[in-house]
Amino acid sequence: MRLVILENAEAVADFACEYFVGQLKRQPKSVLGLATGSSPVALYQRLIQANQKGEVSFDQVTSFNLDEYIGLAGDHPQSYRYFMNDKLFDHVNIDQAKTHVPNGAAEDPNAECARYEAAIAEAGGIDLQLLGIGVNGHIGFNEPLSSLASRTRVKTLTKSTIEANSRYFDADEFQPTDAITTGIGTILDAKEVMLLATGPNKAEAVRGCVEGPVSAACPASALQLHQHAVVVVDEDAASLLSMKEYAQWAEQRHIELEGA
Ligand code: F6R
Repeated sequence: MRLVILENAEAVADFACEYFVGQLKRQPKSVLGLATGSSPVALYQRLIQANQKGEVSFDQVTSFNLDEYIGLAGDHPQSYRYFMNDKLFDHVNIDQAKTHVPNGAAEDPNAECARYEAAIAEAGGIDLQLLGIGVNGHIGFNEPLSSLASRTRVKTLTKSTIEANSRYFDADEFQPTDAITTGIGTILDAKEVMLLATGPNKAEAVRGCVEGPVSAACPASALQLHQHAVVVVDEDAASLLSMKEYAQWAEQRHIELEGA
């Protein structure tokens, strides 16, 4: 695992943007795995700027989002499809037909999960998967106790996730309690995985992800099994890591040896 500890959230977004731009320059036809939530927003803003300046193109990109709420159609302002259109897709030269988010309004959610998993395989798999991390260690909506081999399926959210995401919903608005999420096995199949985490409220989850035992109790710890996982965190999110000094030294050596 490559652990990159940077000063603040801005530096995390800068690093991630450079990484994604590099990926798209090397491989314009990339299949990207994308996430919602607050963690990737600054990255998406930078990618929009880079696209508008002509520094990177999305015209050949295919994307698959991690998850979607069950019960919300794509035109619902709290749906993840709406979020992605609003925060990224509507502002870059991506072919909307090649952007995929599970259909939360599907009549048969289980059939939708199977269709989504098959669509990822048909696209040749994900080249670079972006992840945030929940305060309880979830990735996608793979809550604690999720099988580390899980595939796209329906998952009931924990009370802590519902509570954390209630900030996006009005007090009297329907807030879904279930979601379709790609599985931990699906995520681990990506050729590369990049997890972003910032702020002190993520420190415990980041410790579980990076230094904890590989366990369904912290789904993000499954990234320890991935050959090309990059975890990019700010100082606050890294504050509980006992291997912090080593990680910083190793990253310095990585830059000296690899040039980036
Ligand atoms: C979103 C997702 C979630 C979030 C996580 C962190 O598509 O899959 O796992 O990445 O809940 O959310 P934020 O970034 O809002 O703290």
